[in-house]
Amino acid sequence: MLVLGIESSCDETAAAVVRAGGEVLSSVVHTQIALHAPHGGVVPEIASRSHLEMIAPVIRKAVEEAGCAFADIGAVAVTYGPGLASSLLVGLSAAKGLATALSIPLVCIDHVAAHIQSAFLAPGSPRKRDSLPLLALVVSGGHSAIIGLGPDGKARILGQTLDDAAGEAFDKASKLLGLGYPGGPAIQKAAMGAHGPLGHVFPQGRISPGNPGLGGLRADLCFSFSGLKTSLRTYLAANPDPDEERVRRIAAAYQDAIVEALASRCAKALAKGGYRAFAVGGGVSLNAALRARLKEVADEAGVPLLLPEPKYCGDNAAMVAALAGEGEGITGPAAMLLDATPGLSVEG
Ligand code: KG4
Ligand code: ZN
Repeated sequence: MLVLGIESSCDETAAAVVRAGGEVLSSVVHTQIALHAPHGGVVPEIASRSHLEMIAPVIRKAVEEAGCAFADIGAVAVTYGPGLASSLLVGLSAAKGLATALSIPLVCIDHVAAHIQSAFLAPGSPRKRDSLPLLALVVSGGHSAIIGLGPDGKARILGQTLDDAAGEAFDKASKLLGLGYPGGPAIQKAAMGAHGPLGHVFPQGRISPGNPGLGGLRADLCFSFSGLKTSLRTYLAANPDPDEERVRRIAAAYQDAIVEALASRCAKALAKGGYRAFAVGGGVSLNAALRARLKEVADEAGVPLLLPEPKYCGDNAAMVAALAGEGEGITGPAAMLLDATPGLSVEG
């Protein structure tokens, strides 16, 4: 069966056709980066207007590139949360319309669960169901969470950020350093060009066990990135007008702090043992330093590391269609009644 996936939770309008349980036949992603770059971040009104303009052509292109017709599609899968309400609504409305017009099932998908699925899209990668129980790290502009999938595939959040997401921390630092938007790739590029150490260590945002924001989660599995951003601002106030080499060294030191914060928490979560694999997803999983460090963490824990191919790290619809193809998500009459759910939790 062919599944058409639709994704519009943030600033990418995406559609894909995936064969249930297997191959990605097409994956079209229209990014709005150029529209948001002048504002240094995603502007919800601009995002939803662009989704409205692009959703139909992107869906059409995905079906065309898959070499099939709408009549060949067996189900429509769509992200219904978490994300920006006005952005989610565009994809969800399009999906409901298509499912109704084609008389095929609608499958509503959790965006964070879809990011985990992206690690299983590469040809030759194992099936998720054969990798359970699984530890997953989802790191993007909107999310930073360590999630355990039990033997039954049910998700449990083990740790998460108490404030900014890791991608947000990259984006904000890049703005402070004048490196542009999106910040992750810009910081990575600058860091790679550094010729030596900065001689200053940025904090990794350790959280005290008594922190009221934990809500029952383990402090040593949670993150906090807002202090890191503040520490960069303080550093720049004390050391103003850095030259280009200093900017590169600051970027490297800042990236190290984020990578270490993420890697050390994952190492702690894996130390519990019993996981058959460690999967990573989200835009920040494109980061080369993070990928290398997480490989060390996985090797130390003796579990395989599953990283998405670069084209599936950021938001895309192949991961959405693939998750529906695994039989996950909400379908049937209940799906048609679902509304866009900005605060949806992967725990369901
Ligand atoms: O998953 P994604 O495309 O969208 C969200 O759901 O947020 O992630 C976007 C985030 C941005 O914050 C961006 O700066 C970050 O991923 N990012 C990176 C890299 N490429 C993108 N962060 C670090 N290193 C990168 N190479
Ligand atoms: Zn995402």
